[in-house]
Amino acid sequence: MKLALLLLIAYLLGAIPNGVWIGKGFFHTDIRQAGSGNIGTTNTYRVLGPIAGTAVLILDLAKGTVATLLPVWFLHISLSQHSPMLLLFGFMAILGHTVSIFDHFKGGKAVATSAGMLLAYNPLLFVIASVCFVSLIYLTSMVSLASMVSFTIITILCFVIQDWYLSALAVCLTIFVYWRHRSNIKRILNGTENMVSFGLGNKR
Ligand code: G3P
Repeated sequence: MKLALLLLIAYLLGAIPNGVWIGKGFFHTDIRQAGSGNIGTTNTYRVLGPIAGTAVLILDLAKGTVATLLPVWFLHISLSQHSPMLLLFGFMAILGHTVSIFDHFKGGKAVATSAGMLLAYNPLLFVIASVCFVSLIYLTSMVSLASMVSFTIITILCFVIQDWYLSALAVCLTIFVYWRHRSNIKRILNGTENMVSFGLGNKR
């Protein structure tokens, strides 16, 4: 019963559509109707600027981190044992983020919330993912491409470190992330993907 309640809380936490609520609450703008239509950091930054984008990044990351730590706090599961229970809670937050009860069972592309889960579960992999992600944005100016390639690299590393539960989840998440980026992939292939540059807003 306690486990079911905590899993529900993890889902509801993940389901909070930070981009939508910040956009509507502070900017009277529905980001689902602007830019790429995605509710994540990139589109919030694109449509509402760096402060809103940073807020969504932190809050979407935090959803994954806090949900993953729920079993540590309430079920006395050790963080250092890398229990699959942590991944189950992180997955519930990602599920909430992508199939949100507060957003007509739609949602985001799972990037920041997955990263938040990784931050709690394996901070070293989170740092590697962040370095890859930022470097790829610097090199390509495409957040979508950076997201997909970073997920791929981290999935390979999960197999290298032989964390099989994390590897299985990483494979599923990477397939999902590519599927959720299918409109981005089309734009990348025909050369029309949105570009960003640090501190200078959108290039296109
Ligand atoms: O996290 C989503 C990002 O990879 C792409 O966002 O708005 O350019 O589709 P967007």
